[in-house]
Amino acid sequence: MNIIDGKIISQQVKDEVKARTLQLKEEKGIEVCLAVILVGADPASQVYVRNKKKACEYVGFKSLSYELPEETSQEELLTLIDKLNKDENVHGILVQMPVPKHIDEKTVIDAISPEKDVDGFHPMNVGALCIGEPGFVSCTPAGIIQLLKRSDVDINGKECVIVGRSNIVGKPMALLMLRENATVTVAHSRTKNLKEVCKRADILIAAVGKAKMITEDFVKEGAVVIDVGINRNSETGKLCGDVDYENVATKCSYITPVPGGVGPMTIAMLMNNCLESALRTVGE
Ligand code: GUN
Repeated sequence: MNIIDGKIISQQVKDEVKARTLQLKEEKGIEVCLAVILVGADPASQVYVRNKKKACEYVGFKSLSYELPEETSQEELLTLIDKLNKDENVHGILVQMPVPKHIDEKTVIDAISPEKDVDGFHPMNVGALCIGEPGFVSCTPAGIIQLLKRSDVDINGKECVIVGRSNIVGKPMALLMLRENATVTVAHSRTKNLKEVCKRADILIAAVGKAKMITEDFVKEGAVVIDVGINRNSETGKLCGDVDYENVATKCSYITPVPGGVGPMTIAMLMNNCLESALRTVGE
């Protein structure tokens, strides 16, 4: 069994982004810039935003940070997005989700220019992915493709089962695996015989948000298992994935740990998307 180390692979991706960012600055005088917007004071979101800013610093991006109070109106947020859309020095715009209840998430996502939507959440980018056109791809699924490719896992023609159908992970993951010529099944909470469906998988991707739900009897001998779950054990406070790691690890050929698997890739791919956005402005 091989452990896919997301810390090492995300570091490689960030170092590649860092080198290209420096080159873009030296050759074209362009400083890559990501604007990060957080509305309210959700503690988990604050941690994510802090980590995104740290990553920007590491790769050499400028980061603009907007930490707005909980009571910020939707109109005020849309005005800020509009200003950033028009600012040619800004290459990526990210609104940390979730937004407070009085703000409509879809309206916010739709307001971000698709050319700056480095999260890949805008319908234009989702549509582009669906029909195989260039666009930004949601960072977590894009990171999983990198984990597989950089671990030399062959995707072509393989049976891939994705458990979970969210807009951010499950659905884009299915489209990306299809693009890589996998045979794709998307399973979810209503799937009948989930265990049997999962057992078909050469590559099993769990993105359900239920701690240790995928036990060894869901996994075919020798399968590749990717765990997207980030669940906190209410008793121990420790992080754990959707996969029962100790028991599944003995059965599969590759597995991602939690923490240190898929998680670190999300921010690395965000950096990669933002660099891509800046490169597009100079036609590269
Ligand atoms: N909240 C949880 N994950 C994400 C993400 O990938 N992007 C944004 N903007 N918000 C999130």
